[in-house]
Amino acid sequence: MKYSIKNICCIGAGYVGGPTMAVIASHCPNIQINVIDINEERIKAWNDENLNNLPIFEPGLESLIRKCRNKNLHFSCNVQKHIANADMIFISVNTPTKEKGLGSGQAIDLKWIDSTARQISKYARGKTIVVEKSTLPVKTAKTIKEILGSKNLPKKQFKTQDSEFVVLSNPEFLAEGTAIKNLQKPDRVLIGGEELEAIEALSKIYSHWIEKEKIITTNLWSAELSKLTANAFLAQRISSINSISALCEATGADINEVALAIGTDQRIGKEFLKSGPGFGGSCFKKDILNLIYLCNYYGLKEVSDYWQKVLDLNDWQTRRISKTVVEKLFGTISGKKIAILGFSFKANTNDTRESPAIKICRELLEEGGKISIYDPKVSLNQIKSDLGLEKYNLNNSFDGSWKFENSIIEASRNADAIILVTEWEEFNQIDWDKISKVMRHPAWLFDTRSFKNTYKANYYGIRVWKLGNGLEE
Ligand code: UDX
Ligand code: UDX
Repeated sequence: MKYSIKNICCIGAGYVGGPTMAVIASHCPNIQINVIDINEERIKAWNDENLNNLPIFEPGLESLIRKCRNKNLHFSCNVQKHIANADMIFISVNTPTKEKGLGSGQAIDLKWIDSTARQISKYARGKTIVVEKSTLPVKTAKTIKEILGSKNLPKKQFKTQDSEFVVLSNPEFLAEGTAIKNLQKPDRVLIGGEELEAIEALSKIYSHWIEKEKIITTNLWSAELSKLTANAFLAQRISSINSISALCEATGADINEVALAIGTDQRIGKEFLKSGPGFGGSCFKKDILNLIYLCNYYGLKEVSDYWQKVLDLNDWQTRRISKTVVEKLFGTISGKKIAILGFSFKANTNDTRESPAIKICRELLEEGGKISIYDPKVSLNQIKSDLGLEKYNLNNSFDGSWKFENSIIEASRNADAIILVTEWEEFNQIDWDKISKVMRHPAWLFDTRSFKNTYKANYYGIRVWKLGNGLEE
């Protein structure tokens, strides 16, 4: 075999790089894996003896780190050394939406990909397979190849002085909160590339724990586009069900009953039909914006308009939560205390990127509300940075506009309303009798995630609004 993979380097120790490498390390004890990052704090956290201090929270991650760290899984800032030693390099750096310049607000900012490719080109030695893990615009592999030094080289491979590269696209489909489960038992693994031996080398790694039939191989561009398309389709389902949630509220129908009724049709399927405060996370919005940018670039205006609507609907869904809260609280929340339960974009993660909670809090702050926030995993500093220090003069005292609380009960004390934003399981266990006694009445509960137990709040004297449920109490 042309490639023998003994040493892997992953550039980017984030939500994708960290868990992905931990799972590969646990299944491939004979491969040494170095996860590198320019962020020293992050690497320090990955190496912390206390596993509660890992930089990301993912169920099942701790035990993998305990098993593999400092055996065949290492976290380091030594970019040069680990790139030079690697037979295979995964690029897992972040790819945010561009904030300025050409394509601003839509196109993906490739500055980290660019600088990473330059580092690889500078330090790599020998035959190296470069694997795109980050979500990228179609044709990025071409850019990477060019940066790696393809000038006078054959089509599929290219050499710099003492190195030879081949580029593969291997997009990641894991969802946060279930990342380890998704990596251990993926629906499929997708590998796009031009050189069979390189594709086989990567397939061989995955075949340590994944059936061969689940490994799909395609050309490079199909793999890159499939990742964008998968996220766009998933997001589109959420916007579809959320659009119907508003109609349910208007007509007296119940969105969960509708979702169950349509989801049992196998052609529709039951997954991704949960109505909520709008999708968040680092991927959906960014990838759809990128898809829109690509469509416009290729002159496909109707297609880009179609996907833009998925984003517009999502934005509208989030905004109508704060609007409903203000309306129900007699048109003003000035000076009223509103408890926000849940700040992460979904349960079982500490990630807040694009979380609907950010938008909801900002709008309530603008309306003059006093916000108390509780989340089991998101830190005070993270919330501070998400809400923006300057604008709201945030000083963690309740004299200011918002306060971080360490428990549900403290967040709810004297609150006029509670909004359940994230579907953390502990919110399903809330003792509404106890909470009702500490709230200010008339008290409201806004349930944006269809919790099973919230009907009990009504029994204890709290008025309940449930998203997508027309039978308001
Ligand atoms: C991933 C994907 O890679 C991205 O394409 C996808 O759309 C979102 O998910 P993620 O792992 O969530 O990104 O990002 P993040 O947690 O921000 O981690 C990226 C890491 O790369 C950061 O720790 C950052 O410091 C690091 N980085 C960035 C480098 O090490 N080098 C760089 O040049 C740039
Ligand atoms: C997503 C994709 O699922 C994953 O394949 C890709 O690799 C990265 O992007 P992630 O963003 O981590 O993963 O989580 P996901 O479970 O997809 O949830 C995204 C958002 O949609 C969350 O805000 C979630 O609350 C929301 N959502 C999801 C709904 O509102 N309803 C649903 O039925 C499902």
